[in-house]
Amino acid sequence: MKLTAEQEKMLAGKKGKGTQKAMEILVGLGDIYDADSLIPIQSAHISGISMKTSGEAGLNFIKELVENKAKVSVPTTINPAGMDLQKWEEMGVPKDFAEKQKEMVEAYRQIGAEPTCTCSPYLLDQKPSYGDHLAWSESSAIVYVNSVVGARTNREGGPSALASAITGLTPKYGYHLDENRQGSLRVNVDSSLFENEKTFPYSVLGYWIGQNHPEEVPVIESVNPSPKQHKALGAGMGASGAVTLYHIPKVTPEAKNNPKICETEKEVNFGKKEFESIIEKLNQTSNPDLICLGCPHFSLEELEEIISSEFKEEKEIWVCLSRELKEKADSKGLTSQLERKNVKLVCDTCMVVAPLSEMDYESIGVNSTKAAHYAPSLNEVEVQLAPIDKLIK
Ligand code: F3S
Repeated sequence: MKLTAEQEKMLAGKKGKGTQKAMEILVGLGDIYDADSLIPIQSAHISGISMKTSGEAGLNFIKELVENKAKVSVPTTINPAGMDLQKWEEMGVPKDFAEKQKEMVEAYRQIGAEPTCTCSPYLLDQKPSYGDHLAWSESSAIVYVNSVVGARTNREGGPSALASAITGLTPKYGYHLDENRQGSLRVNVDSSLFENEKTFPYSVLGYWIGQNHPEEVPVIESVNPSPKQHKALGAGMGASGAVTLYHIPKVTPEAKNNPKICETEKEVNFGKKEFESIIEKLNQTSNPDLICLGCPHFSLEELEEIISSEFKEEKEIWVCLSRELKEKADSKGLTSQLERKNVKLVCDTCMVVAPLSEMDYESIGVNSTKAAHYAPSLNEVEVQLAPIDKLIK
């Protein structure tokens, strides 16, 4: 890979040990993927923030960067942590876990990352734009920004996104290049499954695509999702496979700008049989201890929609969202309305990266295929997978 004189200095340690370590990661990655150069990025988003998923190794890695005085050089957001940073005691999170989790988030704050603790950073005030190059690592957010915003990011891991945040650079390969953004598989869907305003069928469709066609750039026909439905679709795809980008003819921005990007000869069909196969695979129980909405983290629009719902009184219900949006919900009076219905707005974390089994939950109800995919293995809980209406009533 060809480096500029400035980049050579970074690699030689002339800009500090933290920057050197970051450059070593990026140069190694660029060599593996045959990138010819590094390109500047507009923002980074880093996953692996929860102590539940990254453990001591993740904590030591970021602490070492702090000791080496590394700082981010582009706007940087971080994924959910393992607990609500303000209400962890109320949630029942063990104290030793909480202490380490606070240390982890503080270390990210010290290197200059915004402690956003959300997997939907594209819902925050500072958003990426069409054509931006990014280094993001959260599969659901990656699919959303590539497909719905038209920005460009590879499926980064936590360490490579962090290295890019520090240097402001990423290797030029994969989804940064036009040729890898061409649609490669047409997905014809039975549109009768998508006739209402629900997110659930989109989550199931996304999961089915990722499971059966994990390496493709799908071109999905006959749907026109709302933002919350795009969010559910991308999260499903990113969970069951390595899908990073999809197009919808006349709907998603690159398909609108360049209809040829949707041209492909391969095609598959998604109908009732395919839909039911996913429910059958992921659904394990019918009477969960806890109902968790907000995978990916809820938008204000989604919160406003559930406000008039009747909730099961005896059930504990969490709605996971970013602190920034929770503060907006507070000022609109939405939080108090939901709390009166026994619904807890949980910030900074989610049902997959919080230590649920250590908090004595044995089963959860979710409307997200991504949560249903990860919660049994990461959290050792059984899952009910169903649309919101079925879970809460
Ligand atoms: Fe977000 Fe947790 Fe789902 S990080 S995408 S709410 S598994």
